Amino acid sequence: MSDVLFEVKDLVMAFHGNFNIFKRKRRIIYAVNKVSFTIHKGEIVGLIGESGCGKTTTARLLTRLLKETSGDVYFDGTNLCKLTDTKLRSFRKSFQMVFQDPYESINPNMRIVDIIGEPLVIHGESKDKGAMRQRVVTALESVDLTPAEDFLYRYPHQLSGGQRQRVVIARSLILKPRFIAADEPTSMLDVSVRAGILNLLLQMKERLNLTMLFITHDLSTARYMCDRIGVMYKGRLVEIGPTNQIISNPAHPYTKALVSVVKDLTEFIQERENIIKDGQVNSYTLEEGCIFQERCVQCSPHCMCVEPPLREITDKHFVACRC
Ligand SMILES: Nc1ncnc2c1ncn2[C@@H]1O[C@H](COP(=O)(O)OP(=O)(O)O)[C@@H](O)[C@H]1O
Ligand SMILES: [Mg+2]
Repeated sequence: MSDVLFEVKDLVMAFHGNFNIFKRKRRIIYAVNKVSFTIHKGEIVGLIGESGCGKTTTARLLTRLLKETSGDVYFDGTNLCKLTDTKLRSFRKSFQMVFQDPYESINPNMRIVDIIGEPLVIHGESKDKGAMRQRVVTALESVDLTPAEDFLYRYPHQLSGGQRQRVVIARSLILKPRFIAADEPTSMLDVSVRAGILNLLLQMKERLNLTMLFITHDLSTARYMCDRIGVMYKGRLVEIGPTNQIISNPAHPYTKALVSVVKDLTEFIQERENIIKDGQVNSYTLEEGCIFQERCVQCSPHCMCVEPPLREITDKHFVACRC
């Protein structure tokens, strides 16, 4: 049996952007552009990169909340992109997503018992009301919301941000999925409760034998959580490798800039000027050459014409740069 849970091949997601009155056509935004990577069973793979680089879209494509423009997503050997909606339904239980803002991903008018139990209703596992309530109680206890009876009949606004995110995690785990895509699960929370949520995710991962895609724009969080880290820039995966390799030996200039942020600020500003030019991420349309050319200090004429493919520089560490 293969140890690969997800295999993503040449995944592309193109959205229609705003209407351009000068060109008289809609701009096409390549939110995810020819992205390929694998996630092994039991692994936590991180996706980092600035806002708008395509992290959430990638997670939504993996969990089939979005239908790709082209490319393939294999889940334990099955190509999810080729399945009919009916066939896909049986797979949906196996992968869940935890969204960034707990308040947006749950219905404020529902009680906690109904929010956590809703996936059971959707997947037809709610025939026995007593058993369903018991499953919700167990789920609340597993995310340390105890005594569970105190939480069952509350509404989301009666909980703190950290408690709400625990409810979202309990809801996403109630169907015993094999894979979780956690999309910046702590970025809306107070610093004081962040560590608790991260540790909870790590505990749940061990307990339930989960595999995880962990999205963050914060490298230190990725370092804490992930076995491997993938770096995205303008819809492309520009580097991927083992966490310690990415942190100690970043190869792509964009990754180097991200790693330098973790250092002291003065040192960072000086170092950053030597690595990347400040620039606006504006065009997601297909361009010629390297995706990073406008911001790279080492950009050569060759880089402007030919797009660098991902190449292996050390064991399992890949970078899309000629550097
Ligand atoms: N439904 C959509 N329609 C149009 N554009 C979208 C849609 N979803 C995302 N985008 C665009 O795709 C790009 C990537 O978005 P996203 O995946 O949310 O980035 P990230 O999660 O890294 O911040 C952004 O430019 C965003 O505006
Ligand atoms: Mg996002």
